[in-house]
Amino acid sequence: MTDHVIVTEEGGARVIKLRRPEKKNALTQAMYRRMSDAIDTAQNNPDIRCLMITGGSGVFTSGNDLEEFLQAGALSSEAARASDMTKFLYSLAHNTKPIIAAVDGVAIGIGTTMLFHCDYVLASTTALFSTPFMQLGLVPEGASSLLMPATMGHQRAFAMLVMGRTMTADEAHVAGFVNAVVSPGHTEVEAHKVARELCRLPAEAVAISRKLLRTPPDELTRRIDQEAHIFGERMGSKEAIAAFKAFVDRKKH
Ligand code: COA
Repeated sequence: MTDHVIVTEEGGARVIKLRRPEKKNALTQAMYRRMSDAIDTAQNNPDIRCLMITGGSGVFTSGNDLEEFLQAGALSSEAARASDMTKFLYSLAHNTKPIIAAVDGVAIGIGTTMLFHCDYVLASTTALFSTPFMQLGLVPEGASSLLMPATMGHQRAFAMLVMGRTMTADEAHVAGFVNAVVSPGHTEVEAHKVARELCRLPAEAVAISRKLLRTPPDELTRRIDQEAHIFGERMGSKEAIAAFKAFVDRKKH
């Protein structure tokens, strides 16, 4: 089991903390497995009233580990679906508990797309949201091609998902996927306050209401599958391999 993800229980909240700061919390397959497991095992546990995902101080996550992408190469449709990344996205799609995210620093790729499966997002003034799929020769994942335009409108989603434009915390607040912007180093404290607020609400009513608000899981997983199929193919494309290599080799020159 990886020690790059720490799972704890605090009050009624299950806290999933990314702890790979030396790699800017880049996500490995083992980390996805640990996060999926933390989400899945919370579902039938009545003592867990909400979930929290945090990157700690200074960074949320730099997205998927690009060295692992390079090693993996092209994935068949089945392999892409069976990947730990896709399983993690499935866990988010099927999750029934409110999720709070605490973003302090960069949230790249899946670091941004996973936020659209969350219910309350806190960002510090240093947060920066980025989905550089095109620059990497890839395509959007995590049902972001569905959820991002639905949240912020097509034009803003296009600028991020296709043009690779970044968003600051304030811009993300205006775009509607960040609830509150706080000082650097304060996202977790604020997230715990939100967790306590959620834990005080009647759990059943919260679960039913959340389900009414969210896109149905089968719709999400259908889109996750569609995207994963193309994403897997693209991982072996010349464009993607060149971009992964350029990243991995960039300090050698
Ligand atoms: N995959 C693998 N390793 C990563 C990584 C990633 N996604 N992001 C950062 N790292 C590693 C770096 O290789 C470096 O490792 P090293 O010290 O062993 O060389 C370490 O984390 C620190 O990163 P560095 O680039 O030196 O820090 P920085 O502050 O200059 O830049 C980022 C930070 C996150 C902006 C930059 O690393 C980056 O752009 N990463 C790639 C993001 C990305 O494209 N993710 C995929 C989205 S689909």
